[in-house]
Amino acid sequence: MSLEIDFEGVKFKNPFWVGSGPTSGSADKIIQALKAGWGGVVIKTIGDTIVRKGVRPMYSAMRSQSRELMAFENIELITEDNLETWDKYIKKINREVPDAPIIFSIMGSSDISEWGKLAQWSEDHGANLIELNFGCPHGEPEKRSGAYISQHPDLVYEYTKEVVNSVGVPVISKLSPNVTEIADIATKAEQAGAKAVAAINTISCLIGIDIEREMLLPPVHGFTTYGGLSGPSVKPIGLRAVSSIFKNTKLTISGIGGIAGWKNAVEYIMCGATSVQVVTDTILNGFDQIKEWTSSMEDFLSRHNYSSLEDIRGKAVKNIKEYSYLENLISQRDTIDDEMKKIREA
Ligand SMILES: Cc1cc2nc3c(=O)[nH]c(=O)nc-3n(C[C@H](O)[C@H](O)[C@H](O)COP(=O)(O)O)c2cc1C
Repeated sequence: MSLEIDFEGVKFKNPFWVGSGPTSGSADKIIQALKAGWGGVVIKTIGDTIVRKGVRPMYSAMRSQSRELMAFENIELITEDNLETWDKYIKKINREVPDAPIIFSIMGSSDISEWGKLAQWSEDHGANLIELNFGCPHGEPEKRSGAYISQHPDLVYEYTKEVVNSVGVPVISKLSPNVTEIADIATKAEQAGAKAVAAINTISCLIGIDIEREMLLPPVHGFTTYGGLSGPSVKPIGLRAVSSIFKNTKLTISGIGGIAGWKNAVEYIMCGATSVQVVTDTILNGFDQIKEWTSSMEDFLSRHNYSSLEDIRGKAVKNIKEYSYLENLISQRDTIDDEMKKIREA
């Protein structure tokens, strides 16, 4: 059973990509991920004039009573390494894992021409696909980049078009969920010539307060800033975004948000994703889970007599309807108390 996918003409041996983040932030990590069996890697977002050192600490985790991760906040910026360092990283990756599909992720300043230049740099360095980071909720929005772009449909159009006109490789616009209707934003990217979108980037958040120490999290010398939420709790928001984009556009989709196992990936694919990206789970658990994920996914496809992932892609979306459609299906109702009891006892 093959898990191979074709993402806008680029072949991947499986749909699992390590998404842009700290686990794709150096040559060694990218090489390690690809050698472990991940289908592809989206490099940590690179930049030029906006690259700077971030604050510490950058992370905070929200856990259940049984210590399981529920959600994760980061206030990490794009890469702290300059293009010279990335030039070295890319050369090392090409030496050690030649032919591995690498997706470049870029973010420029509000000067649109910087996006075109970064895209050309990426293409010159062998990018198979270029992802545009329009969704980072901290660090850049106050300077009219990052999630500010996703929140302004005309800017999504203009910045996507600038990159599409600058390079020959397919462009993926990566979107923020911090908008009213993400499918409308995806449509702008499609009109500008993007072949694909990636959704979702993190959700603007304040993860919590250590009330005993009266300390906001993550604490930076007693202060904090709104950060980006990821991890298991954001999966429902990601599935909603991906299914809505699938319904309303013809774009190829890379699904992201809260994937912590192969079953979550199948959910995203059933909602219309062609590939899936994982970040938070790789921060917590490393790269080796990919072997179990791919063998379980293969087993799932054979058990259900599917011949490839194409057979399940988007399969669930036709059953997402307007509320009024559901109302017409109902003739008998549980009491609300009965329904709450079922949820408590599940
Ligand atoms: C620590 C951290 C750093 C991130 N850095 C980037 C980044 O540089 N570029 C980007 O496009 N997304 C970045 N993201 C967002 C992820 O790529 C992804 O969209 C998000 O975390 C949801 O996926 P997950 O739940 O699997 O983590 C980052 C996420 C985390 C947790």
